[in-house]
Amino acid sequence: MATMKSMKLYISVFVVYLIEFCVSKESTKPIEITEDNWTDILKGEWMLEFHAPWCPACKNFQSTWEALAKWSDDLDVGIGQTDVTENPGLSGRFFVTALPTIYHVKDGVFRVYSGSRNENDIISFIDEKKYLELDPVSWLTDPKSLQMSAVGMFFKAAMVIRNIYNVMISDYGIPEWGCYIIFALLTIVFGLLFGLILVCCCDLLFPPKYIQRQQRVQPEAEKMDESDLLDDTPQENGEEETTEDTTDQSKVRKRQTRRD
Ligand SMILES: *[C@@H]1O[C@H](CO)[C@@H](O)[C@H](O)[C@H]1NC(C)=O
Repeated sequence: MATMKSMKLYISVFVVYLIEFCVSKESTKPIEITEDNWTDILKGEWMLEFHAPWCPACKNFQSTWEALAKWSDDLDVGIGQTDVTENPGLSGRFFVTALPTIYHVKDGVFRVYSGSRNENDIISFIDEKKYLELDPVSWLTDPKSLQMSAVGMFFKAAMVIRNIYNVMISDYGIPEWGCYIIFALLTIVFGLLFGLILVCCCDLLFPPKYIQRQQRVQPEAEKMDESDLLDDTPQENGEEETTEDTTDQSKVRKRQTRRD
């Protein structure tokens, strides 16, 4: 009985080790950073690589990056990677103009790594704190700043429009010039709507001015009504009929100036 018990214990310990081994092996892969959780890299130290499936240099570099990820625990650095085709907002936010782009992040301070793509060089860059020799990115292009969030949003919007454009061409068979006309019309419609919303907001924000103007206009309108009444008197009618091609409004204006 005793031996059976210890056997069970050994087996369970072995199983626990096996599970731990599998889990730790999984965690040594580069961590996917997406638009939803990119703020996680603001804590602690990270290396983040931007790549795309169509970029050959990225494919060559992938094995190095995966090897680096195995050092993640020893160096106490998160090894992340972002696919720019799936996260256009991040490619805008991080101002990615070349692929692969590598960022070093420590406690929210971003630096662009532009050294060699050799595994050992990257390890010494982190381990020997060589990143301190580099200037952090300027406040203007800081990925956590408000303006870069806006750039990220524009990139996202541009990707959405591009996808719509592709669907229009491939799925609906709309010719290219047709798409441009549709986009031009949409731009005008959205511009008008935006203008309308702005005007409404202004009206809501500054209502006193609007009321004042209305009050000032009213007496004038009453005056017009008076002169309209005068129009209907028979004597005046005869007088006016001699002059042709005059609209009602000009009649009113004439009479008003005469009265003055
Ligand atoms: C971010 O999300 C991706 C996909 O959902 C996930 O694989 C990854 O582990 C997350 N990264 C972090 C740092 O939480």
